[in-house]
Amino acid sequence: MVFARDQWYVAAYGSEVGRSLLARTVLDEPLVLYRTDAGEAVALADRCVHRRYPLSESRLDGDTIVCGYHGFTYDPTGACVFVPGQQRIPRTARVAAYPVVEQDSFVWVWIGDRARADPTAIPRAPWLVDPRYAVVRGMEPLNARYGLLVDNLMDLSHETYLHGGYIGTPEVANTPITTEVDEDRGVVHVSRHMEDAECPPFYARSTGIQGRITRWQDIEYHPPCLYLLHSRIAPQGVHPPAEGPDDEAFHAEIVYAITPSTAHTSYDFWAVARDFAIDDESVSEYLHQSNHTVVMQDVTALNTLERVIAAEPDAYQELSINIDTGGLAARRLLARMVGSGTAAAR
Ligand SMILES: [Fe+2]
Repeated sequence: MVFARDQWYVAAYGSEVGRSLLARTVLDEPLVLYRTDAGEAVALADRCVHRRYPLSESRLDGDTIVCGYHGFTYDPTGACVFVPGQQRIPRTARVAAYPVVEQDSFVWVWIGDRARADPTAIPRAPWLVDPRYAVVRGMEPLNARYGLLVDNLMDLSHETYLHGGYIGTPEVANTPITTEVDEDRGVVHVSRHMEDAECPPFYARSTGIQGRITRWQDIEYHPPCLYLLHSRIAPQGVHPPAEGPDDEAFHAEIVYAITPSTAHTSYDFWAVARDFAIDDESVSEYLHQSNHTVVMQDVTALNTLERVIAAEPDAYQELSINIDTGGLAARRLLARMVGSGTAAAR
């Protein structure tokens, strides 16, 4: 699998990284994540240099990891500071330490050439840490290549068929999309504005709206990892005012981080931030359970698709239609990233 290596990827939520050792594999690289006593997140290669024992199966001693097999001990820079039975520490006794940035509740890691790691290039998802929003979230491991999840999220017409009864209604599949690509920033925008639509249970139960709605879906995909869906729900016919806040509408900011793990597996980080009923625990519980169900419907479908594609690699010619313009633009930007010298074949 060829990955875009010189890019930032989400390895974990900040809340998952603490004083125990967390194993994640990103772009085929096994990582161990933990937090120092001072609270800094650390990502090291998850293999002891001695006999490849996973450091994630080892233990923390202060800010160092002591290998669970022979006691080789590594500091947060990846340098070995102790080996058993001798004073001299071999010069090559070091594991890779990956650049880490914590932002918007995510732990971002950089797998490629660290000289190119620019933290200001990480795309933002500020709603996830904004007190004016309530957030539910999760992460599902996916037994499918990450491109299948990109395709899935760029084309929401599948909501009507795969997620009927949750977020899908006939209008989603029936309303045409507009697709724009910001070539300079490398961002794909896909919009679908439904002016007169059925309100799916996901929004009817959480907002309390009865009757039909105006439902806008505005997608921003920042390849390779961050996907934002700005969702605006309002009673039918209510549009944003020319000036001032859009108070009569309900807004959900739906965020996915799509992280390739191996050639055939991925991490599906998902979050729903809302600006309504933010103190209502029952709405949070409902949206968490409902979105988890929707994500698992996608996971099941994509795991099936991966099995089919992996078994029949050359037997299939895709056919694309109008709904696929966003997904095709995303694939083009991803291919450009992979091909521009920011990637390495593995
Ligand atoms: Fe879906």
